[in-house]
Amino acid sequence: MAFRASVVRLNRAIVYTQNGDPAQVLRALTYKPLPPPAPETVNIKYLLAPINPSDVNVVQGVYPAKPSLTSLVDGQPDVFVGGNEGLAEVTHVGSGVTDLVKGDWVVMTKAQAGTWSSSRNVGVLDVLKLPRVEGLTEVHGATMTVNPPSAYNMLNDYVALEKDEWVVQNGANSAVGQAVIQIAASRGFKTLNLVRKRSDIDELTRKLKDLGATEVLTYDDLNDRNLTQRIVKEWTGGKGIRLGLNCVSGPDTTSMARLLGQDAYLVSYGAMSKQPLALPTGLFIFKNLTSVGFWQSRWYKQKTRSDKENLFKTLATLIGHGKASPEHEIVTIPAEDSDEVAGQKVREIFAKIAEGQYGKKVLLKIAGSE
Ligand SMILES: NC(=O)c1ccc[n+]([C@@H]2O[C@H](COP(=O)([O-])OP(=O)(O)OC[C@H]3O[C@@H](n4cnc5c(N)ncnc54)[C@H](OP(=O)(O)O)[C@@H]3O)[C@@H](O)[C@H]2O)c1
Repeated sequence: MAFRASVVRLNRAIVYTQNGDPAQVLRALTYKPLPPPAPETVNIKYLLAPINPSDVNVVQGVYPAKPSLTSLVDGQPDVFVGGNEGLAEVTHVGSGVTDLVKGDWVVMTKAQAGTWSSSRNVGVLDVLKLPRVEGLTEVHGATMTVNPPSAYNMLNDYVALEKDEWVVQNGANSAVGQAVIQIAASRGFKTLNLVRKRSDIDELTRKLKDLGATEVLTYDDLNDRNLTQRIVKEWTGGKGIRLGLNCVSGPDTTSMARLLGQDAYLVSYGAMSKQPLALPTGLFIFKNLTSVGFWQSRWYKQKTRSDKENLFKTLATLIGHGKASPEHEIVTIPAEDSDEVAGQKVREIFAKIAEGQYGKKVLLKIAGSE
């Protein structure tokens, strides 16, 4: 009887050595099982890690946050490991670590942690334990540190909204937009949600309303002056919308800004249209508009560890009890694949994302040995 040699499965990461189109420059790299963790560190196994729009920009080299070079394989050049956000499970705990045990779920507090990996060794201060709230899934955990906190903080930090007040947002079907809808609904705020025109607009409207959206319109609807007048006067009872959230920029955001009332804030957090933001001067002079930019990474830099812990506790509860996670697809890269095959699969995913073929959040599951 022939015995198959036992396969020693190793670790794997999705890496690059030079910036460029992710569909060209990314590759898979196998590395050895991790040694036991050094003091004050833990070994973690990534369960799921999303591909966010900013991850693409990081690989392209056009995003302000840059990963550090990492040595994964002795004798080979250092690499950048892709992925900023992700959920991991603690597998081994180094000496001196008091607040984490094997099996805990953790999220990253260090930016550009290289989450598109199977297992890594990290310092205890680079991660935060995620409370295992009932209803909180792996997908929720893996998408907890970028989009929901952005939504939560933008709803909190600029305008003291009262119950039944309106918030207007574009890119409302984005992951951030969906989090805005759910968090706003849980706090009794009304949302006017703007999306691009599409053939399945009725279905999208129904989905967003199921999440808690009050109204859904397309950017084209804003060309109808009768409608916009009605929005401003009737829907808001003449009070005016005091908070607008901008995911896309470009001319559609100019139209959205015109819906805002006196002393409003327009908070920009994305530029998906790749166009600049132009605002009529009259909005500043006559309506005292304030236009600001929000960056969750800046929030993390400015806040303490305990602020972050509190935020994650709040979000874990809100999201665990929420209606749904953003539409997503999990793509598993099996341990059995060679690095060539795995790299090809990952490059194909990025080519599809660039062509807008997914229309939902893609999460990577990079299988390894630990
Ligand atoms: N500043 C921050 O702290 C922060 C935090 C989180 C996210 N972000 C940014 O927020 C944006 C959304 O992120 P996400 O993860 O929520 O994205 P996502 O789930 O991938 O959604 C992307 C959104 O962008 C829209 N979109 C794509 N191309 C567009 C175009 N040419 N014109 C208008 N809309 C377009 C999509 O609408 P369709 O369905 O019509 O394609 C969809 O609503 C990104 O720019 C991201 O970098 C910023």
